[in-house]
Amino acid sequence: MDAKKRIFSGIQPSGELTLGSYMGAIKNWTALQHEYDCLFCIVDMHAITVRQNPADLRRRSVAQLAQYIACGLDPEKNIMFIQSHVPQHAELSWVLGCFTQFGELGRMTQFKDKSQKHADNITAGLFTYPVLMAADILLYQADLVPVGADQMQHVELCRDIANRFNYNFPDTFTIPEAFIPKMGARVMSLGAPENKMSKSEPDGCVFLMDKPEDIMRKFKRAVTDCETAVRYDVENKPGISNLLTIYCAATGKTIADAEAEFADQGYGIFKPAVGEAVVELLRPIQEEAGRLMKDKAYLEQVYQDGAQKAQYLANKTLRKVYKKVGFVPAK
Ligand code: TRP
Repeated sequence: MDAKKRIFSGIQPSGELTLGSYMGAIKNWTALQHEYDCLFCIVDMHAITVRQNPADLRRRSVAQLAQYIACGLDPEKNIMFIQSHVPQHAELSWVLGCFTQFGELGRMTQFKDKSQKHADNITAGLFTYPVLMAADILLYQADLVPVGADQMQHVELCRDIANRFNYNFPDTFTIPEAFIPKMGARVMSLGAPENKMSKSEPDGCVFLMDKPEDIMRKFKRAVTDCETAVRYDVENKPGISNLLTIYCAATGKTIADAEAEFADQGYGIFKPAVGEAVVELLRPIQEEAGRLMKDKAYLEQVYQDGAQKAQYLANKTLRKVYKKVGFVPAK
C-alpha cells in the first residue's frame, strides 16, 4: 500500500494570525495539502497556558479557521479542527505525562522564556505544554510535523516520549519527524529584526487582517540601518534583509531581482513598496476571510466535520494506548 505520509500542525489562537504565520507556516501548508494527508489544528488548549480573555479566544478560534480557509487550505482535502473538540488530546496527554520526566520539561527553553515573561502565573499547564503537543502529534500517528525552529525542541521531546513508550509497549506510535520546509520564509519583527515576528510584540508585527493603512504605516516605520543600499545581508543589515525576504515572499521575485529593482532607490521608496506588495498579497485573503466570517453556519459545519474525522483517528490510537497501559475496557 502506498499510503500518503501524514502531517500534523497547529497554531495557537492566542492572538491574531500574523504575516509571519502566513509566510512561515500556512503558505507552506497550502503546498503540502496536495501531497500529504494533513491535519491542521487550532490549538486552543495550548492557548490557555497563559491567560486569555474568553470572548476573544472564542472569536479568534473561529476567525483562525476562516483565515486558514481564506489562505487556501481546503477543508475537503484536510482535516481542519479545533483541539478542544477532540477530547482524546487531553486524555492521551495524561498518559504521556506519566512517561515524561520532570527534568525534561524543565529544560525546555520555551518554558524558561514564558515562565520569565509570565512570572506571576507559572502554571502546571505551562510546564506540561510540550506533553499536550506530543499528544497532538502522536494521536494521529503523524510522520511529519512542519514547525518553526523554535518548536524543534518540543518535537524532539515528542520523539523521546514516543520512543520511550514504544520501548515499553512496542508498535504503539509512529515516530514523527520535524519538517522545516525549504521554501518557508522566516519573517522577523519590523521593530527588532533580530527577533522573529511575534503576535506578543504587536509593534513589529503585521497581522493578516490589518487594514491597508496600518500595514503601510508599519512598513514605513520599519527599523533599517543608516546606509542607503537595498542589499541582502542578514548579519549587517537585518532590517533590510527582512524586508527583502517579505517582498520576495509577497511577489514571488528572487532576492537578486529585488535588489536590482531597488538598486538606485533609497529606503524611502523601498519600504512603502514592500508595504504595498503585502497589502496586495493580503487583499484577497482578507476579503475571503471577511466573507467566511459572515457565514457562521459554514464555519460551524467545517469544524464539526473536522472534529468528527479527527476523533475517529484519535480514538483508534487512544484505545490502543489505554489497552497497552492496562486500563480495563469500558465496554
Ligand atoms: N506549540 C506550537 C507553537 O506554539 C503549536 C502546536 C501545538 C503545534 N501543538 C502542535 C505545532 C503540534 C505542531 C504540532 O507554535
